[in-house]
Amino acid sequence: MAERNPFIISGYFGPEFFCDREKETRTLTANAKNGVNTTLVSIRRMGKSGLIWHTMDQLTRKGSHTCIYCDIYATGDLKDFTNKLGSAILQALPEKKPVGKKFMNLLKGLRPVFSYDALSGQPQLSFTFATQQQYEQSVESLFRFLDSDKKPVLIAIDEFQQITNYPEKNIEALLRSQIQTLKNVYLIFSGSSHHLLSEMFSNGNRPFFASTQFLYLKEIEQNIYKDFIKSILISYGRNIDEDALDYIMHFSKAHTFYTQSICNRLFASGIKMISQEIVKQECNQLITEHEQLFFQYRNLLTPVQWNLLEAIAKEGKVYQPTAKGFIEKYKIGIPANIQRGLESLLNKEMIFRENDKDGAYYSVYDLFLSRWLENLE
Ligand SMILES: Nc1ncnc2c1ncn2[C@@H]1O[C@H](COP(=O)(O)OP(=O)(O)O)[C@@H](O)[C@H]1O
Ligand SMILES: [Mg+2]
Repeated sequence: MAERNPFIISGYFGPEFFCDREKETRTLTANAKNGVNTTLVSIRRMGKSGLIWHTMDQLTRKGSHTCIYCDIYATGDLKDFTNKLGSAILQALPEKKPVGKKFMNLLKGLRPVFSYDALSGQPQLSFTFATQQQYEQSVESLFRFLDSDKKPVLIAIDEFQQITNYPEKNIEALLRSQIQTLKNVYLIFSGSSHHLLSEMFSNGNRPFFASTQFLYLKEIEQNIYKDFIKSILISYGRNIDEDALDYIMHFSKAHTFYTQSICNRLFASGIKMISQEIVKQECNQLITEHEQLFFQYRNLLTPVQWNLLEAIAKEGKVYQPTAKGFIEKYKIGIPANIQRGLESLLNKEMIFRENDKDGAYYSVYDLFLSRWLENLE
């Protein structure tokens, strides 16, 4: 069998392939011990899910908690949510152990249909009830079941902002009121939409107000990331120049997924001694491979949106998109159109809005697209 590429670009394969996040792992672990729920936020592909898996891997090894990971990205309503939660519990509890048997007993009363996910092969279940109320009660009995176990339970609900798209209106309040009463179950709410999650958890009128601790995931510190990359390469009998490492950090802006993707390619090339020149070639190659997709994006956007996107890419970070300097430099039209263009690009997740020490700024979401746009004439 071919050896696994140590620079993973999806999933989690253990601590050897996982860079840093020591402080964040400690925070999540401490929260799971001390009964504090956490809201984990960052832009996409920064490593939230990875961090959750890493933390759960450690807690599972220690045997201190039952860990349940529930990704609700693909859910559209309360029914989907109930199915995902039930399936996540099913997958986490060992069938043969007493707790797994107890769970099967609970399920008998709820009569779900069992099946296997076509892609992952994981067991899953699906409930069929006539009323919303029955789904609400089932979610409650799932939580209550977990709460009744001796071992503390850590549940991560990944892509949590998704619940704001459900057609049922009271889901936030429902979940809050159920979760509030749990004594043995701790939660991580994780998501990419900074705006939505801050609104949900820090607006005094919303059910989840002030109920959790916020954890913002930033880029991994560059020196730590460079050491990680170099030591992996060395352990596989390869090496890399210092300026090549610097170029990887520069090009990927230390955004985890992009850094990993570049390193994955460099490793796959089989090259023993990696120079800056080689890194540059691989980065260009990666971008060229995505070009077809980028042209498709262009077809999906209006000319105003596309020009705005290109201008944001060329600037890297745009703090004042309606300022005269920016508008004149890129000839992108009047402020009202720009405002509308920004909203639309935000909704399409072509750009994101974040804060740094200089204030709020806009950037292009997909870094490879951004690098490609930068080079357009
Ligand atoms: N600390 C890390 N070290 C190495 N690779 C990581 C790390 N965190 C995440 N990754 C990888 O980076 C990619 C993006 O991370 P992911 O956790 O999916 O981001 P998010 O959930 O924030 O969108 C994944 O392919 C993951 O395997
Ligand atoms: Mg994720």
